[in-house]
Amino acid sequence: MSVIRLFGVASILLLAQTTLPAIAQEPAAPGAAAPAPATPKAATPPAAAPAAAAINTRPLPPKQVPWSFDGPFGTFDRGSLQRGFQIYKDVCSACHALDHIAFRNLAEPGGPGFSPEQAKALAASYRVPAGPNEQGQTVDANGQPLTRPATPADYFPPPFPNEQSSRASNNGALPPDLSLIVKARDGHSDYVYSILTGFGQQPPANEKIGAGRFYNPYFRGHQIAMPPPLMDGSVMYVDGTMPTLDQESRDVVTFLTWASDPKMEERKRTGFNVMIFLFVFTGLLYFSYQRVWYGKH
Ligand code: HEC
Repeated sequence: MSVIRLFGVASILLLAQTTLPAIAQEPAAPGAAAPAPATPKAATPPAAAPAAAAINTRPLPPKQVPWSFDGPFGTFDRGSLQRGFQIYKDVCSACHALDHIAFRNLAEPGGPGFSPEQAKALAASYRVPAGPNEQGQTVDANGQPLTRPATPADYFPPPFPNEQSSRASNNGALPPDLSLIVKARDGHSDYVYSILTGFGQQPPANEKIGAGRFYNPYFRGHQIAMPPPLMDGSVMYVDGTMPTLDQESRDVVTFLTWASDPKMEERKRTGFNVMIFLFVFTGLLYFSYQRVWYGKH
């Protein structure tokens, strides 16, 4: 029964694999058709005009980066995680929230490896909305909401109180929460790395960049509302690592990859242990089978 079901699942998967690329290729057709009239251009000049108008703004495939956390045995580089956290804190947190990460997570196994004291001190340097005080007030004399120092149990406070104020400060664009961005985008870590290092190129002549937009060929539509957030020397690393654009981008992407999957190392370790167990168990079953059935044909 279960074998039949397995076959069923496998054939559905196979079907999906064979049909999906066909669907994916459909939108490619107009773009792919564009270069075609370019060859007979000289012969039929009127056909060249619509071809020139069709601008291809499909994002480039992300750059391929060899990450320490790739593969079934990959782990996070602690130094890179800590530096990446510094980049998030000093640069990205001005615009992007990190809603799913609490200060205590920074001191948990599999994470950046800060000590509980460090996480506590770090939390205390942030202020978060406080509950009503003893008089039942939630705002102070000036009408400002009451705040208190954060504790390790608190989550990172967002840079803006709501979406409207966030958009108002960013030319109408919304900087997405970064906690799950690595999981949420095709290309994952490579994609975020490519966005961060994909600025500064000259746009093709036929791509007009809108006001408050920046050319980035790895972004959908090639225009992003985020100003280039990193450059060589954006931060000073305490461990003496050279803060090049490449290094900073790798570090913050390592940190964001951890943030999107804080239990990755534990999961991989468990997976490996389960494989070992199954291997040993298979051997045991085989030998006991032989013993039980020895000479019983
Ligand atoms: C000045 C504000 C600002 C800063 C600082 C900033 N960003 Fe952004 N970011 C934005 C805005 C605005 C968007 C939305 C862009 C859009 O939709 O066009 C964005 C989008 C993104 C995206 C999403 C792209 C997508 O696929 O939707 C990523 C990833 C990103 N930022 C990462 C970072 C990282 C990492 C840092 C820190 C190194 C950072 N940002 C710093 C404003 C900022």
